[in-house]
Amino acid sequence: MDKNSPIVLFDSGVGGLTIAKEVMSEFPNEDIIYFGDTAHLPYGSRPQAEVRKFAFEIIDYFLELEAKMVIIACNTATAAGLKAAKKKFGVSIIGPIQPGVREAILATSNNKIGVIATEGTIGSGAYQRALQTKSADVEVYAQACPKFIPLVEAGELYSQKTKQIAQRYLTSLVKEEIDTLLLGCTHFPYLGKVLQEVVGESVNLIYPGRGIALQVRDILERKALLSPTPTKGKREFYISDLDKLSAKFVRLGKEFLNLKELEFKELDLWSS
Ligand code: DGL
Repeated sequence: MDKNSPIVLFDSGVGGLTIAKEVMSEFPNEDIIYFGDTAHLPYGSRPQAEVRKFAFEIIDYFLELEAKMVIIACNTATAAGLKAAKKKFGVSIIGPIQPGVREAILATSNNKIGVIATEGTIGSGAYQRALQTKSADVEVYAQACPKFIPLVEAGELYSQKTKQIAQRYLTSLVKEEIDTLLLGCTHFPYLGKVLQEVVGESVNLIYPGRGIALQVRDILERKALLSPTPTKGKREFYISDLDKLSAKFVRLGKEFLNLKELEFKELDLWSS
């Protein structure tokens, strides 16, 4: 494996960019490729086997391009396929569930943790199990929030409609007096401002972008795979269906992600 090979991140859409942001800022010299599978979005309402199949096909494709590490920047695909992918492919593959769980356990004082994610992730029980395995004292309040995903993809990051939907989803968690809310979907950090308003300033919002970037550093250092090239690394952004990209998202997302440029190219891995 080559030290100059790229790091690849993927998600069903633009959500995984919230992790890519941290990885890009941690590794200015690495080549980083982002892929959003907008042709199959949302993953959250699909059967786990189907999501796993898409994830494997994406990983296969990028391993042929010699990726040195793959980050599944999608909780739904992590819940559906991280374990199997680690067994199947001979490259380091990580996902956001374990780092998020570690950070949430460190953040809570009253051991009441809310977790919000897609139906697929919540239905898999992956977060509930991982939290309770790490700390038997923790009470977990899980809530699927599927309506957030199309809102983010459409760039509705701060709208009144988004706030009303957030209130509907989160009222029961607030009543349980959670002190920590784990954002178990990579689309949700874009809604951080609205979510914080709804749950109140005293609740910790946790998402594991920074934790993942540090985990990547640890792995690349251990495997002696950090790029020795001092020049600025390339950044490439691809999605499988360009027609699904909203101009409003690109405008607001660029600001949110602190990027000068956010230009996507179409890459349909499934066209023959
Ligand atoms: N961003 C993805 C996640 O973290 C899923 C969104 C979807 O496609 O349903 O789970």
